[in-house]
Amino acid sequence: MSRKFFVGGNWKMNGDKKSLGELIQTMNAAKVDPNVEVVCGAPSIYLDFARSHLDAKFGVAAQNCYKVPKGAFTGEISPAMIKDCGVNWVILGHSERRHVFGESDELIGQKTAHALESGLGVIACIGEKLDEREGGITEKVVFAQTKVIADNVKDWSKVVLAYEPVWAIGTGKTASPQQAQEVHDKLRAWMKTNVSEAVANSVRIIYGGSVTGGTCKELASQKDVDGFLVGGASLKPEFIEIINAKA
Ligand code: PGA
Repeated sequence: MSRKFFVGGNWKMNGDKKSLGELIQTMNAAKVDPNVEVVCGAPSIYLDFARSHLDAKFGVAAQNCYKVPKGAFTGEISPAMIKDCGVNWVILGHSERRHVFGESDELIGQKTAHALESGLGVIACIGEKLDEREGGITEKVVFAQTKVIADNVKDWSKVVLAYEPVWAIGTGKTASPQQAQEVHDKLRAWMKTNVSEAVANSVRIIYGGSVTGGTCKELASQKDVDGFLVGGASLKPEFIEIINAKA
């Protein structure tokens, strides 16, 4: 079983050319584990900037896209435009898209299908809210979200599944390694039953939610944790430590 460790940075709506330029310089100069796939999620207006300044060994991701190639959709960007900037990934279904901007499972599914058809890799995010965890329905929630994504995927080699419990995002409250492992294990079992054993064994399931230099190593040692999606800490030099969590 060889799942290449995957570390995504999600810059969200942060930074400017100066600070992101400095971050990029730090990353380009750093010693990073060559066995890790690294992708930085830049704000759409800085995709071109990020792609032209980041070393080619690092991937770049958009943080969202729309479900059609072009048209009268003011404010949106398409996978075709993302690819035109030399960018090969998109983050879809992030909890902020779901819960701040009200994106439905259905829309996230349609975006996933279109992004994949357009040749982008997709970092597909799922995760339960605090009341859902406390209500004992974590599995039900993440399986339902995963099903809508799975219904729209033909080629799983281009998909990374990001489990991000909403209560852990931006809160400083990282899931414990056991909590993360438990859900990742269940997601992999779901994939085995509902997609295929081969996909269950090969798909990367990454964890997101307040990952830091301090928490990354133990999380990374869990059997079914194949990497991270990192928000706050991806804007700091600490991101290098997280990339190198398994080194
Ligand atoms: P955080 O964000 O690391 O700041 O919690 C993670 C994410 O939203 O992807």
